[in-house]
Amino acid sequence: MIFYFSGTGNSLWVARELSKAFNEPLISIAEVTKSGNNATVYFLQPTEQIFFVYPVHSWGPAVLVGEFIRHLELKAYTGQPVYSICTCGDECGYTENRIGKWLRQKGITLTGSYSLQMPNNYILLPGFDVDPQEVEEKKLQEVPSRLAAIVQAIRETTGQPLYHTGSLPFLKSRMIYPLFVRYALKRNSFYATDACVSCGLCAKGCPTGTITMEKGKLPKWEKDSCVQCLACIHYCPERAIEYGNISKKKGRYHHPDIRSIK
Ligand SMILES: Cc1cc2nc3c(=O)[nH]c(=O)nc-3n(C[C@H](O)[C@H](O)[C@H](O)COP(=O)(O)O)c2cc1C
Ligand code: SF4
Ligand code: SF4
Repeated sequence: MIFYFSGTGNSLWVARELSKAFNEPLISIAEVTKSGNNATVYFLQPTEQIFFVYPVHSWGPAVLVGEFIRHLELKAYTGQPVYSICTCGDECGYTENRIGKWLRQKGITLTGSYSLQMPNNYILLPGFDVDPQEVEEKKLQEVPSRLAAIVQAIRETTGQPLYHTGSLPFLKSRMIYPLFVRYALKRNSFYATDACVSCGLCAKGCPTGTITMEKGKLPKWEKDSCVQCLACIHYCPERAIEYGNISKKKGRYHHPDIRSIK
C-alpha cells in the first residue's frame, strides 16, 4: 500500500515506480483529504509493505501527510514493514524523524526512510527558485538509478543509508519547520492574472479546496487552508497565477511525465 502526496508530480512519479516495483496499490492522500473522510481505515495483508511518499516542505513532511497519519487506522497491522520516501530539492533535515514520531504515536514503527533529490519547486521566498535547466535535467537523469538503489536496499534489507539530512538540521527542522507550519501556511497571496482563461484546472486540482471558481470568472483563493503544495501555480497552463510580486520573475516546474495536477 503506497500512500502518496505530491504537488508538482515528483513524489507521484516516485510512488508510481514503487507501485510497479513492489506491486502495491497507490492511495492519494490528496483524494482522501478532498473527500473529507476523517477516519481513514485500511486493512493490511500479512505480506503487505506500506510506503509513505511525499515532498519535503521546509525540512519537514508536507503537512497533509501529518494530518492523514493522525486520522489513519491500519487494521491487521502486526509489524509489516513501513517505509518513508521523501523527495526534496536539496536536503531533508530531520524529516524522517518527524514522520517516524507521527507514526509511533499511532503505534506504527518506521522500518526505513529514504530521500530522493529531485527538481526544486519552491519559489515563494526571495532567493528560492526552480533549478536552472541543466540542474533540473541532471537531477531527473539521476533519479532512476537512485530510486533503483532504494528499491534494492528495501528488497535486500541492506540498511544502506540513502537519506540526505544536509546542514544545520536542528535549526531547519526543529525551529524553522514549526514556524513554517504556524505562519507560512494558510495565509496566501495567490491570485490569477488577466492571462487566466477560466479553465478551472487549479480549482479542480487543489488538494485542500482552497480555490473556488464561478463559471467564467477568475479563481479565488481562500485564506485559511492552503498548504503551499504549489500545484496551482506550477500547473496553470496559462502561467496566469502569481503569488504577490515574488513569483513574477520565477520559473515554473512540474515533473515532465506528470502533465496535470493529480
Ligand atoms: C513549501 C515548500 C517547501 C519546500 N522545502 C524544501 C526543503 O526544506 N528542502 C528541500 O530540499 N526541498 C524543499 N522543497 C522542494 C520540494 O521538496 C521538492 O521540489 C519536491 O520534490 C517536490 O515534490 P512534489 O513534486 O511531489 O510536490 C520545498 C517545496 C515547497 C513547495
Ligand atoms: S489553471 Fe490557470 S488558466 Fe485555469 S482557471 Fe486556474 S488560473 Fe485560470
Ligand atoms: S491553493 Fe495552490 S498551493 Fe495551496 S493547497 Fe491549493 S493547489 Fe496547493
